[in-house]
Amino acid sequence: MEIVKIEGLTFTYSGSDTPAISDINLSIEEGEFVLLLGPSGCGKSTLCRCLNGLIPHFYAGKMEGRVIVAGMDVSKTPTYVLSQHVGMVFQNPENQLFSLTVENDVAFALENLGIPRDEIRRRVDFALKAVGIEDLRKRSPFELSGGQQQKVAIASVLALMPKLMVLDEPTSSLDPASAKSIIETILKIRKELGTSIIVAEHRVELLADKVDRVIVMQKGRIIKDGRPREIFVSEEMVPYGIPVPKVVSMAKGVNKYFQVFNEIPLSSEEFEQDIRRFVHDKVR
Ligand SMILES: Nc1ncnc2c1ncn2[C@@H]1O[C@H](COP(=O)(O)OP(=O)(O)OP(=O)(O)O)[C@@H](O)[C@H]1O
Ligand SMILES: [Mg+2]
Repeated sequence: MEIVKIEGLTFTYSGSDTPAISDINLSIEEGEFVLLLGPSGCGKSTLCRCLNGLIPHFYAGKMEGRVIVAGMDVSKTPTYVLSQHVGMVFQNPENQLFSLTVENDVAFALENLGIPRDEIRRRVDFALKAVGIEDLRKRSPFELSGGQQQKVAIASVLALMPKLMVLDEPTSSLDPASAKSIIETILKIRKELGTSIIVAEHRVELLADKVDRVIVMQKGRIIKDGRPREIFVSEEMVPYGIPVPKVVSMAKGVNKYFQVFNEIPLSSEEFEQDIRRFVHDKVR
């Protein structure tokens, strides 16, 4: 089943003459893991906002076309209903936190939905465990590191058990080690829960070989949609300044001198395996 179906979507913010996104047509299957790429200002955040109803419910502008998420027409569905199906995580975790303790923050949306106490407790435990922050539950979110705060934000969304999670540059305000930890958390959620995930993320190194699909945007349009290998290995994307995992260019460089890689690797693990195999065959 499709978790997202977008038809002819164009959105222009109030006060702007040009659409932020234009004629977007997109289907995403339930369980798919999608990486959204594109230069600053190309419309990634705008597209993400259309998936949980922030557009058109909170942002003023002109919307054309249709966005169906989990079978619901986003423009006709209240955001509190959508929030139970689509979880959204943003760039700056501190903007998403407001309670005195981590566990209250994670429980907040559930309480607002009138979910029974026992069920809330069960879901909060589940979400904190899934994200690996059970030890932080009594802490104040405001005394945590940026990476820990982002994990609280992810847990708050997970507690709603959404069918789709949309993460808009979740690591861009974090240091490299925290960013890595957040990406590992996303991979764990994907592996253990099979949640459909759309993530806009510039740090492609840890995701390139894990996602099912890469969507590339430019100037408000989708210009390429394909498997990671098609996007990262073909030279065609180079002029668009799409971030490519370092191992791809390294492997291409090596292959100019020795045919080490039959298929260009997307991760350092694949890279290492191929090098080992090559050396092993040579010394035999
Ligand atoms: N709230 C807003 N009001 C008016 N215009 C906006 C608003 N948010 C974004 N825009 C405009 O819409 C276009 C797309 O912006 P958007 O934030 O979706 O891009 P992005 O790909 O997420 O960029 P970045 O990588 O910098 O986050 C830009 O021209 C931007 O200036
Ligand atoms: Mg953005």
